[in-house]
Amino acid sequence: MTAQLIDGSALSRHLRLEVAQRVTALKLRGISPGLAVVLVGDDPASQVYVRNKVQACQDTGVFSVLEKYDANLSEAALLARVQALNADPAIHGILVQLPLPQHIDAHRVIESISPAKDVDGFHVASAGALMTGTPGFWSCTPYGCIKLIESTGIDLKGKHAVVIGRSNNVGKPMALMLLQKNATVTVCHSATQNLKNHTLQADVVVAAVGKRNTLTADMVKPGAVVIDVGMNRNALGKLCGDVDFEAVKEVAGWITPVPGGVGPMTITMLLVNTLEAAERG
Ligand code: GUN
Repeated sequence: MTAQLIDGSALSRHLRLEVAQRVTALKLRGISPGLAVVLVGDDPASQVYVRNKVQACQDTGVFSVLEKYDANLSEAALLARVQALNADPAIHGILVQLPLPQHIDAHRVIESISPAKDVDGFHVASAGALMTGTPGFWSCTPYGCIKLIESTGIDLKGKHAVVIGRSNNVGKPMALMLLQKNATVTVCHSATQNLKNHTLQADVVVAAVGKRNTLTADMVKPGAVVIDVGMNRNALGKLCGDVDFEAVKEVAGWITPVPGGVGPMTITMLLVNTLEAAERG
C-alpha cells in the first residue's frame, strides 16, 4: 500500500472531543445546545441513523429530543411541529430525517425549517449561502469530506478537484465547498464522456455516485487524494464504497476507507453545526 489512510473514525473522535469542550463552555454561559431530530415512519435505515445521531448528542453533552411519528402523520401536522421547534428557544438545530413518506412534500417541510436552525444544510437559504460564500450551514457529508481532505495537511488552493456525482446533498455542495477553498473544480456525472480523462488530471477525487468500482486504479493520478462517499454492498454483501479500494490504495497518495472514512464524519459535522447554531444564538 502506497497511500496513507485518512482515518475518519479517528478524526471524528478528535472533532467530537472539541464539540464536547465547546458544549461545556456554552453551558457555563447558560446556553445548553439542543438538537431536535424528527423521524416519520419506520424506515429501518432511518431508524439506525436517527439512533446514532441521538447517541452522538448524548456522548458530547448536546441536549436532544427525538420526535417519532407514525408513517400516516399528515403534512400539515409535520409542518406544525417544525413551526413549534422553530419557536422553541431550547432547540438550536432541527433535523427532519429523509426520506419522508410519499404523501409528504419533503421540499416543503425542509423549507419550513428556520434557516438559523437548518443544521442539515438542506434549506435553499443554506444552499444559497454556500453558493455566495456568506455565513450559513454547510451540509454535513460534503463538509465532512472537506475536513478529511484538510486533515492531510494538503492545501486545496490551486489544486484540481474532480467530483463524481451531482446530487443536491453531496455532489453539488461538495463542488461549491471545494471552490470556496480555491480549488479548480470539475463535476462529472452520469452523462460525462471519458470520466477517466477527467479523474486522471485530479489532485483530489471525491466519488459520490452510489455505485461500486466507479473509480478504479487506472483512473487515478499517482499521489492523488481519494475521498469515497459511497455506501454500497459488494457481491458478498460486504459494505464498500464507490472506489476500488484495494487497487486504488496502491496508486493514490491518500485514501478514505469504507467503512471508517466519510461515514462517521456526517454525524460529527451535524454536531459541529448544532454547536455553531447555539453559539450564534
Ligand atoms: N437521510 C440520510 N442521510 C440524511 C441526512 O444527512 N439528513 C437527513 N435529514 N436525512 C438523511
